[in-house]
Amino acid sequence: MSEKIKALKAEISAAKAKTQEELEAYRLKFISRKSVLGDLFADIKNIAPEDRKAFGQEVNEVKQLAEEKFKELITGLESADTGSKSSAPVDLTLPPNINLGTVHPLTYIHNRIVEIFQKIGFNVADGPEIEDDFHNFTALNFPENHPAREMQDTFFIESNPDIALRTHTSSVQIRIMENQKPPFRTLAPGRVFRNEAISARAHCFFHQVEGFFVDKNVGLVDLKQTLYYFAKELFGQDTKVRFRPSYFPFTEPSAEMDISCNICKGKGCNICKYSGWVEILGSGMIDPNVLENCGIDSEEYTGFAFGMGIERIAMLKFQVNDLRLYSENDVRFLNQFKHLS
Ligand code: DAH
Repeated sequence: MSEKIKALKAEISAAKAKTQEELEAYRLKFISRKSVLGDLFADIKNIAPEDRKAFGQEVNEVKQLAEEKFKELITGLESADTGSKSSAPVDLTLPPNINLGTVHPLTYIHNRIVEIFQKIGFNVADGPEIEDDFHNFTALNFPENHPAREMQDTFFIESNPDIALRTHTSSVQIRIMENQKPPFRTLAPGRVFRNEAISARAHCFFHQVEGFFVDKNVGLVDLKQTLYYFAKELFGQDTKVRFRPSYFPFTEPSAEMDISCNICKGKGCNICKYSGWVEILGSGMIDPNVLENCGIDSEEYTGFAFGMGIERIAMLKFQVNDLRLYSENDVRFLNQFKHLS
């Protein structure tokens, strides 16, 4: 009899369960009421009374061994189960691993500019990207033979030379001033188009922000103070500005504004070409002809205007010197601006 028990013990110790079916087979054979152990217990009555105690003890040992083994087989099967799906436990509280987008650097600069001017009472206006000659050139006092009207600068619509893609956002000045009454304190951001070969320094489209302020008694001092405030807000309070005389058909006098180079702080570097200054915008007092072209009495009202390129400002702020990067949407480039909001 003890040979039989020995064999059973060996069989139990060697048992394996790789599937639920094998586990169930084990349970039926060694644990259930109809198991081989049940048969052994039933045999007790056939054993000589003096051997019964020892036999009973042996059968109980087998029973214990079978139960321990059963637990072992269950845990073995459970860990094999999860192991086959994922080696780490699943944490359902973790956010999903989605590669979120980020603010485009041009959008960031656009938002900053709008925010700065909104603080001093500017509103934001929009205008069409497809413009007519009047709003893009004529009303802005461009002489008939001005080079900006020429084919190499402007995308004209072939079937109608009066229609073109706007070359600047100054056209929005006209759209607002001809339809509304002064005073105006308006910002007009938007996309503009030039007939240029695409390179690191030029593109056939880019973005500008136009601004204009028209009221009674607006003077050059207002222009300077407004733009001075803007430059300090955008580039930092220690920024210096200077105005250089310039020419635009729609302003008189006209000036370009430089800021002290924000990279080298005016000491001289290759961004500012060792001058310590970088140009950021064009500006001037709105030419009385422009006001009159919009039906505004230039004896009663005066104003100033300014225009800047968003890419140009982004290049200075982020030290990116290839314009094309801003419109290629290469995620390796865009990912570098994840810190912006
Ligand atoms: N429209 C000009 C350009 O595209 C920029 C500009 C210069 C706008 C002076 C203005 C201004 O309003 O006063 O280059």
